[in-house]
Amino acid sequence: MICFFISVLDIRVAKVEKTKLYTLDRIDIIMLKLREITSENFDECINLKVHKEQGSFVASNVYSLAQAWLYHRNTKPFAICHDKEIVGFLMLDTDYKDGASEGICDLWRFMIDKNHQGKGYGRVAMQALINYAKETLTVKKIRTAFVPGNTVAEKLYSSLGFIPNGEVDGDEIVMILDLHPQ
Ligand SMILES: CC(C)(COP(=O)(O)OP(=O)(O)OC[C@H]1O[C@@H](n2cnc3c(N)ncnc32)[C@H](O)[C@@H]1OP(=O)(O)O)[C@@H](O)C(=O)NCCC(=O)NCCS
Repeated sequence: MICFFISVLDIRVAKVEKTKLYTLDRIDIIMLKLREITSENFDECINLKVHKEQGSFVASNVYSLAQAWLYHRNTKPFAICHDKEIVGFLMLDTDYKDGASEGICDLWRFMIDKNHQGKGYGRVAMQALINYAKETLTVKKIRTAFVPGNTVAEKLYSSLGFIPNGEVDGDEIVMILDLHPQ
């Protein structure tokens, strides 16, 4: 199990005549855990859904878990948990044959349930994943891909340092995060 949290500091700026006054309004702490999929949590996991219009952005979790079974030597599916609730799902492909020289792992699936989107969980889950890839998998790079038009995912990945490398995978645009930039 991987635990991760981030504090989001919401600092608002108020102007008092010519002096800028900085006040700390709010501190939110988001604590997420990435738990392995087990017989206890897989039902909850396959019940997670994205919005209808996001259906083409990610495979269903039931399909992903079927793939996880097929390619079980290389895949690592995780439930994204907030307190005791599962709020999302991600799956890594750690098949190093593809990128043996570079030590790449693939973020193959990533979703936050429609009822939990926009709360900061996606960003924190990505940061947890980056930490896990760096410290546990000890890979050098993470690869992911997004469907053109999925601007939320594209912006989120970009803001975390993922850069398009010019490749396309089917109809998806590939992005790479270098975990040890020079
Ligand atoms: C992409 C996804 C995982 C993001 O998860 P999330 O929990 O909603 O993301 P967060 O709340 O952490 O927000 C991350 C950023 O996206 C922005 N964002 C989230 N939802 C948004 C929306 N509907 N419209 C515009 N911006 C949005 C947030 O403002 C935030 O930006 P900031 O950190 O610069 O303020 C989620 O939208 C999802 O599951 N989408 C469907 C499946 C999918 O596209 N998966 C990715 C496949 S590549």
